[in-house]
Amino acid sequence: MATGSSAIQDLAGALTGPGTKWTLCLVGEDQSQKFSQLSGELHLPFSDSGDGKRISSGFSYWGVESTVAWVHACSDLFYPVMRESIENFHGRWSRIELGQNGERFHYVSLGTGTGHKDRTILDRLLPHNPDLRFLPVDISPEMLRLGQRESLRGTGISLDQVVPVQLDFSTARNAIELRRLVEHLVGDEPVLYSLLGNTLANFEDDTGLLELLLKELVRPQDRFLLEVASTGGLDEESAQAAAQEYQASPRFGEFVTSAVMHFTDLHINMDHVSFTPFVEDDRSVLVKVTYQNRTGEQLRLTLPDRSSVEFPDQDTIRLLITRKYARNGLAKMIADAGAEEVHSDQPRIPAAFGRPSFGMDLMLLRPGIPATSSPQPPAEPPTPNPFAS
Ligand SMILES: C[S@@+](CC[C@H](N)C(=O)[O-])C[C@H]1O[C@@H](n2cnc3c(N)ncnc32)[C@H](O)[C@@H]1O
Repeated sequence: MATGSSAIQDLAGALTGPGTKWTLCLVGEDQSQKFSQLSGELHLPFSDSGDGKRISSGFSYWGVESTVAWVHACSDLFYPVMRESIENFHGRWSRIELGQNGERFHYVSLGTGTGHKDRTILDRLLPHNPDLRFLPVDISPEMLRLGQRESLRGTGISLDQVVPVQLDFSTARNAIELRRLVEHLVGDEPVLYSLLGNTLANFEDDTGLLELLLKELVRPQDRFLLEVASTGGLDEESAQAAAQEYQASPRFGEFVTSAVMHFTDLHINMDHVSFTPFVEDDRSVLVKVTYQNRTGEQLRLTLPDRSSVEFPDQDTIRLLITRKYARNGLAKMIADAGAEEVHSDQPRIPAAFGRPSFGMDLMLLRPGIPATSSPQPPAEPPTPNPFAS
């Protein structure tokens, strides 16, 4: 122990020592409260169309089983959405103009996942800002530990520059707390936030989430990197093809059922998992993944708090929603969320052999000027100093 130093200062030594096995993690979440939210959502009433019981976004990744299943899904040859999103990220990021002119950014990754993309981003930002602070944020502590290993690999960043944060970033309270933490660490210096891997598409109110994050986190000097899946068509055929993309991957099936498997005693039958496509107005194709009780019998689920839930025949649990956005729908969502596009990379694989044109869009955003904001009053002229000689 160094005399006069705090335990936090001493920790830096432990973290940066040779061969250290430690991962520092700031826990910003009351796990028991999260659990009661999950339990409440599994107690919702009967619906045979996935509109009652649910695993809401974030919980799908919570827990070690889901983390491992997600990592496996990301490398599945039959699940091109994430595999290609990770494999092609380097090229797509290289076409986004940020940091090439020596601007110095700190980095906050919202939903770090496997950490591969964070490493690519750090590789660009670090040479211009060797002292940058990196905050990977994730609801899943297991994902944070796993992602950290990958994101830091070969970057040379010191562990005392990295502050992993376990937090659900989708509530206003948490976003405000996160901003306070970030400002403690970096002051007014610019921060790059990212929300990658089509994570936004998993939220029912995707526009609301984007608006919340931009409003509560992103200051005028900051930037927000958004990656979403996109579609060239908003027709039945494109929606079917999107559903098929997910359905074709056994690993994705394992991932999407892992939370129910972990948090209930339901015996999973993969034949009871449905991938239902929808065209969502003029903005996206949406795929709703549900588990339906097709046993012909009333089942009873036991949750980890020993409460039990009736799961009648034909009742469903919504496991996940995901989307692919049309370009107009995406532009409208960004505008409605109060953001402006600074730069984007929106290649799309052309439609061929009955395959619709799908792609991954990467966009750099900044907070726009809200239409309702009143102009700032002109600065007061300086008051003469009566004591000046
Ligand atoms: C689709 S993955 C994307 C991972 C990574 N960004 C990528 O592009 O490869 C979503 C990630 O966000 C995390 N996540 C989802 N909802 C979250 C929430 N509400 N709060 C914090 N993390 C969340 C998940 O645990 C997971 O690591």
